[in-house]
Amino acid sequence: MKNLKHLFDRNLAWAAECRQENPDFFSRLSQQQDPEYLWIGCSDSRVPANQIVNLPPGAVFVHRNIANLVVHTDLNCLSVIQFAVDVLKVKHIIVCGHYGCGGIEAAMEKREHGLIDNWLRHIRDVYRFNADQLDGLAQEEMLNLLCELNVREQVTNVCNTTILQKAWKEGAELTVHGWIYNISDGILKDLDACISSPQEI
Ligand code: CO
Repeated sequence: MKNLKHLFDRNLAWAAECRQENPDFFSRLSQQQDPEYLWIGCSDSRVPANQIVNLPPGAVFVHRNIANLVVHTDLNCLSVIQFAVDVLKVKHIIVCGHYGCGGIEAAMEKREHGLIDNWLRHIRDVYRFNADQLDGLAQEEMLNLLCELNVREQVTNVCNTTILQKAWKEGAELTVHGWIYNISDGILKDLDACISSPQEI
């Protein structure tokens, strides 16, 4: 299994299916991308952005990392946000977390996981900011709430970037949303963390 031929076979079948449904699907997409949404989600293989909201290629600009974090100094994430806002002019930025997030669970474990513990420190910070709400809850309830609080925290982080601040100052219509996905039933929930201006942060 040196060249993963089965994946190329699947690709050919998929491309043919797309062309059958819409003969100019690829020629239209090849002209440009014009996505209305930037999705910031978890790398978890069970939380694929486009499929969850049932949108085709071209509709969602995507950034994913472990536990859907927006770290103030993460040039990768910041570059994605800047390109999405300044060049693609997306109208909505969606931070989507999910229940049962392995990153959130690992962050709360006592044992060591190696390099990734440095990344997960950001989740420990979210825990620390909200300890009064989280302490005393049963384990599962605590982790579920931490998944939600983490989304809210990352929404705030998106809003506080120089990119969003500048865009809003220049009058851009841009809304940041906080959602959470349930792996066990495939359903998205809006956390009502919607922000459309600096005053709402
Ligand atoms: Co996750």
